[in-house]
Amino acid sequence: MIKIAPSILSADFSRLGEQILETKNAGAEYLHIDVMDGIFVPNISFGAPVYKCIRKLSDQFFDVHLMIVDPMRYVDDFVKAGADNITIHHEACANQIETLQYIKSKGIKASISIKPKTDPQVLRNYLPYVDMILIMSVEPGFGGQSFIPSATESTKTAYMLVKESGRDIDIEVDGGLSAKNVDLVTSVGANVIVAGSAVFGAPDMAAAVADIRAAGDKTYLKAL
Ligand code: DX5
Ligand code: ZN
Repeated sequence: MIKIAPSILSADFSRLGEQILETKNAGAEYLHIDVMDGIFVPNISFGAPVYKCIRKLSDQFFDVHLMIVDPMRYVDDFVKAGADNITIHHEACANQIETLQYIKSKGIKASISIKPKTDPQVLRNYLPYVDMILIMSVEPGFGGQSFIPSATESTKTAYMLVKESGRDIDIEVDGGLSAKNVDLVTSVGANVIVAGSAVFGAPDMAAAVADIRAAGDKTYLKAL
């Protein structure tokens, strides 16, 4: 069964707490938290102080996506603020494995992400160190963009690498996903689906989450 991770980047920040509870009541197992530094991506979102305030609102799995240069600098802050997973970018630093090991040493999950143009074969090196792989299906930086079709092939490659390794590693895909196209990634192995505008922009959040889940579960691994 797939898991749904609403990205709060698309939430109405004037009523963030309320909106988070809505995602929880809608049955979303994860909450996806996009942290941006204006350098790795051309946008700035929020940092650990905001995160710390929302942590106490929900017992969902808090999935922190660090789109920042040299993420090691902020691991402690997000661990202290209560992250369940921290994802770093392959492209964001030179000491990726050391950073992943440091995250793991804090007793939480560690994950690696690649941007749409990055060769998914680079993921091979990370397999012993990660709990999840995050395939970006838009250029990171903004919600509401269109899904980049090459992400399907990257997701499939990631799934095959994980399968070969025999390790238990989740495959998350992030960007431009909705109930209409989620099959493009679930059918080739994605089991954690990030959705920002498709959830927070929907008139009925519970229906949006249920629709994505139904479409994803129905097509999971069907193209392999
Ligand atoms: C983009 C972020 C995504 C984004 C997804 O940099 O990592 O999590 O918020 O938003 P949608 O689902 O609207 O593409
Ligand atoms: Zn994200």
